Amino acid sequence: MWSRARNDEPDLAAVAEEAAKSGRPAVRLESLGKTYGSGASTVHALKNVRLEVWPGEFVVLLGPSGSGKTTLLNLVGGIERPSSGRIEVAGADIAALSESARTDYRRTRVGFVFQFFNLVPSLTALENVEIIAELTGPNARARSRAALAGVGMAEAADRFPGQLSGGQQQRVAIARAIVKEPPLLLCDEPTGSLDLNTGRQVLGVLRALAREGHHTVIVVTHNSAIADMADHVVWLHSGAVSREQKVDSPVEAADLWW
Ligand SMILES: Nc1ncnc2c1ncn2[C@@H]1O[C@H](COP(=O)(O)OP(=O)(O)O)[C@@H](O)[C@H]1O
Ligand SMILES: [Mg+2]
Repeated sequence: MWSRARNDEPDLAAVAEEAAKSGRPAVRLESLGKTYGSGASTVHALKNVRLEVWPGEFVVLLGPSGSGKTTLLNLVGGIERPSSGRIEVAGADIAALSESARTDYRRTRVGFVFQFFNLVPSLTALENVEIIAELTGPNARARSRAALAGVGMAEAADRFPGQLSGGQQQRVAIARAIVKEPPLLLCDEPTGSLDLNTGRQVLGVLRALAREGHHTVIVVTHNSAIADMADHVVWLHSGAVSREQKVDSPVEAADLWW
């Protein structure tokens, strides 16, 4: 059900509009649990998590190290399977998908951004984006250039990662994540290895992606300052949601301080 015809130009604005009109959450977690190991060494990484995220929301998921943030992101992204509960994305339970449907889901519906940019050092910025663009549809080069332009990196298309700053590399990594136009953008500590200024720039890019209505963005971080720019803040503690808050007028990324 997640597959898309190869020659079908994705129209994300339409997908986002449809999702918003449907009145359905972009992501809905119900009684979500994840356990690692067994017997005396059992770790309850997530316990009975309930959460609703709306299309186009910019969500910041906060919590100390070990609270389950990465686990939650990996479950929503289809990288791992839950031990219990439901994970609905646009109304479909992805926990119930077959292995191949889950692969398709991960490939077409979700963009991932990690703390360490994971760019291929021997490929240019454009080529790094293009290898993913080629997996997900036609016109890979044009789509890759557009994605780089979207994160303010058009000028750097032909540079290698080693010739880019950390913030620039992270923007290329974001371009790579959005080139398939995923409704969901999942970011695990995306500013964890950036200084304040480049961190703000990267967050500004992510914020714009959510604001333009094309992406629902979930940013996981232990940096509580980032919560100020969120529409929706969720605090995790010991694998459970300890607090949740909606924000009417979040601050701009450029005004964050840490
Ligand atoms: N693959 C795994 N095997 C065993 N335990 C794990 C695994 N992944 C995470 N955990 C444990 O689950 C808990 C939550 O981890 P994680 O989601 O990585 O937290 P966070 O991202 O908030 O630091 C921790 O106790 C961690 O040690
Ligand atoms: Mg983590």
